[in-house]
Amino acid sequence: MPIVLVGPMGSGKSRVGGRLAASVGAPFVDTDQRIVERYGPIDEIFAREGEEYFRVIEREVVAEALREDAVVSLGGGAVLDADTRDDLERLAVVWLQVSPESVAPRLAGGNRPLIAEGGIERWVDIMQARRPLYEAVAGLTIDTSRRSVARIVDEITEWA
Ligand code: S3P
Repeated sequence: MPIVLVGPMGSGKSRVGGRLAASVGAPFVDTDQRIVERYGPIDEIFAREGEEYFRVIEREVVAEALREDAVVSLGGGAVLDADTRDDLERLAVVWLQVSPESVAPRLAGGNRPLIAEGGIERWVDIMQARRPLYEAVAGLTIDTSRRSVARIVDEITEWA
């Protein structure tokens, strides 16, 4: 059964996911990375085809990844999809939280079309809107703001 990491942009899903996978001896699947491999850079998909199209391909890639015995990191907006939330109900889901103060430096220079304009204020708005969705799917919540990756990995492996 996969261990799934959800949470907003910059919460550390990829960093934590890679280390967690190594620690439990499972493959690591980053759904954004898989989208890039198959369809090209995410900002180009948004620019060329729009967010709605991105969500359709994201749903497909996420559904496939959730059937794998892996540590799976989902893009921040994957929980917007009701079918994805249904899939997550049966799985071990960890919500990585982060404060706006801690996330701001991590987002600098990132390739993230949703906050390309609006920056941290937009990030906060998006986070508020999605909070109930993360809450609904998560079995474990960890604030990553002042914890080391090693400690986060330990907390997840003790729980899972
Ligand atoms: C998005 C988050 C991004 C990526 C896309 C949309 C979102 O993933 O999927 O830019 O809607 O929050 P990360 O959370 O890995 O940055």
